[in-house]
Amino acid sequence: MTGTIVERPDLADPATYDHGIPHAAFRDLRAMPGLVWNPSGPWGSGFWSVTRLDDLVAVSRDPMTYSSELGHIQIYDVDEDVRAVRASMIDLDPPVHTRLRRLISSAFTPRHVQGYVEDIRGRVRSRLDSFVEAGGGDWVSAVAAPIPIGVICDIMGIPEEDHDLMIEMTDHLVEGTSSAELDPGAYGNTRPLRELPFNSPAAHGVEEYARNARRQRLDNPTGDLLSELATAEVDGERLSETEYARFFQLMIFAGNETTRSAMSHLATHLVRHAEQFDRVRSDPTLLDAAVEEVVRHASPILYFRRTATIDTTLAGTDVAAGEKVVMWYASANFDEAHFADPMGFDVGRPKVPGHVAFGGGGAHFCLGASLARMELSALISEVLDRGLRLEPAGDPVLVSSNFVNGVERLEMTVVAGG
Ligand code: HEM
Repeated sequence: MTGTIVERPDLADPATYDHGIPHAAFRDLRAMPGLVWNPSGPWGSGFWSVTRLDDLVAVSRDPMTYSSELGHIQIYDVDEDVRAVRASMIDLDPPVHTRLRRLISSAFTPRHVQGYVEDIRGRVRSRLDSFVEAGGGDWVSAVAAPIPIGVICDIMGIPEEDHDLMIEMTDHLVEGTSSAELDPGAYGNTRPLRELPFNSPAAHGVEEYARNARRQRLDNPTGDLLSELATAEVDGERLSETEYARFFQLMIFAGNETTRSAMSHLATHLVRHAEQFDRVRSDPTLLDAAVEEVVRHASPILYFRRTATIDTTLAGTDVAAGEKVVMWYASANFDEAHFADPMGFDVGRPKVPGHVAFGGGGAHFCLGASLARMELSALISEVLDRGLRLEPAGDPVLVSSNFVNGVERLEMTVVAGG
């Protein structure tokens, strides 16, 4: 046999992300013609990897051909008999997805989100005050984790004393995407893990909490999003307890882990690219672009998967009905065909073409994008107003996962500002 055998990492293996996004591997994959087949392994059956931005957008905007519902939206397989009970709207296709999304979408429009700005600012200020007073510490647990969970819990109506529990449970949900062995009985769970989202017993904990919240809101509506959801109707019927719990879990997870990850990576950029943030300080019109550049680099969600509903062709590759198609946001966001010097951090980058960290467009485009942008914008501008300068006080500890680009711990020292 002649030719070169290119060693490719298994993109499904959580260990592939032990040192962050495997940029070199993704660059090689983007340079290959067509789609690239990732063979089956211990993490599930094989799949097509979509690594270029244009191809990713094409998949994202065509839910008829690339379904969220038919298989699963993560790489591993989910048994057909438990798919429906595990599903939230992100796992469904139009038109059912459309009807469910409508129930909560008004709470997250850019205009509505403006109403949260003062609360967000307040949370950012108080977390930064404590961080500065302590002279630094773990940026993740002190700043990046509590702000987004506080914001989404406020919107939903979850009391402050339960915010730490929400952080703990969503951390455990993420463990379901690592190679960690999970205790099936945690959170009082008695069900087989295959029936639970993320195959995690924490999903049971979240579900129990949500069921209680629903009952309380039905007895005593409090005007919050959880109360609205408790009485909301789809086709004349209220959401069942399980449907309600899945909604709850989706919002708690999506509104928390992702923004936390972007805020964690922000701290590293503040250190490495201080000159870029100096540009923003002297020209605040660059603030929005700085937010986008942080989100692009962080690519907090590494991928989502779809399943082909028919035999089709993408980028010249034949994809058979039933095959898995994985959209690697963490690759497309560094596609050299769209971003000049893609590894560079540049707040002066032209807006078009934009990144796909919030999705490639289409039905499932991130519902919380405006909220996440506002939270990041508040944090960056508060850091800049204070002239806050950080220095690393140790190597970052990353979350072990093939799904989120998370940071578990990031020790930083405050060297200036406050
Ligand atoms: C930097 C922060 C965030 C990132 C990078 C992010 C990323 C994403 C991505 C990639 C998707 C899937 C898009 C697709 O399939 O086309 C998504 C969906 C979603 N996101 Fe976000 N997200 C962030 C923050 C938030 C926040 C703060 C919320 C709060 C509510 C949120 C709620 C959702 C929901 C509910 C969905 C499912 C939408 C649907 O299925 O219709 N996200 N997000």
